[in-house]
Amino acid sequence: MKPHIAISNYFFLLLFLLSQLQSFSATPSSSSSSSGTYRDTQQLLSFKDSLPNSTLLPSWLPNQNPCEFSGVSCKLNRVSSINISTIPLSTNLTIVSTFLMTLDALESLTLKSTGLTGPISFAAKSKCSPLLTSVDLANNSLSGPISDVSNLGSCSNLKVLDLSSNLLDFNAKDSARFGLSLQVLDLSFNKISGPAVAVDPVQRLQ
Ligand SMILES: *[C@@H]1O[C@H](CO)[C@@H](O)[C@H](O)[C@H]1NC(C)=O
Ligand SMILES: *[C@@H]1O[C@H](CO)[C@@H](O)[C@H](O)[C@H]1NC(C)=O
Ligand SMILES: *[C@@H]1O[C@H](CO)[C@@H](O)[C@H](O)[C@H]1NC(C)=O
Ligand SMILES: *[C@@H]1O[C@H](CO)[C@@H](O)[C@H](O)[C@H]1NC(C)=O
Repeated sequence: MKPHIAISNYFFLLLFLLSQLQSFSATPSSSSSSSGTYRDTQQLLSFKDSLPNSTLLPSWLPNQNPCEFSGVSCKLNRVSSINISTIPLSTNLTIVSTFLMTLDALESLTLKSTGLTGPISFAAKSKCSPLLTSVDLANNSLSGPISDVSNLGSCSNLKVLDLSSNLLDFNAKDSARFGLSLQVLDLSFNKISGPAVAVDPVQRLQ
């Protein structure tokens, strides 16, 4: 009898250890992360629903893991990177900031050649991901003054911002401070006007 009890105790200990190991390897805190993952899914679906063309992003579906959505990558089951370049989203930065830049763990956002229009805006009351370091908005139709870049001020960790090949107005006289500590700001191929001043369109600001 005694050996049997010992074995079953050992068996339960093993089960306990395995279950601990499983919850440890899944995520540091599985319950808060699964609600975070759910929130990420909801935000991505809200973004999709806001698009004028509802047939885009066909793999972005309800009740699915957002890490499986095309163009989306995750770290620890949270959305960390989005690259949906060349998909004709035809939306604006108010929508992009509301639903994508606010993803809690987003580090990198690439929306090159996606038909973005309007000014460099950021949705009122929205809070940018504190981890967002890189945003690529190249080859779109963003317009308005380049000083609107200051609207991205809540993206406190933003280091690289590519605004090349848009329709932004950059007047060399207007040496506005952008309120961001960017390392790379690419403004090449925009509407640079004003007196002839040597302006390096790829500014290294630090
Ligand atoms: C919506 O997107 C699909 C897929 O890219 C495209 O075939 C279709 O022409 C688009 N519809 C409109 C109204 O732009
Ligand atoms: C983004 O996706 C496009 C094609 O879908 C690819 O060519 C490009 O290298 C990707 N960029 C990044 C930064 O991952
Ligand atoms: C952005 O797009 C949304 C939805 O299409 C629209 O309601 C809003 O007025 C647009 N905002 C700007 C600044 O263009
Ligand atoms: C820029 O975007 C247009 C469509 O909006 C596309 O035809 C063109 O190939 C893109 N150019 C580059 C350099 O990505």
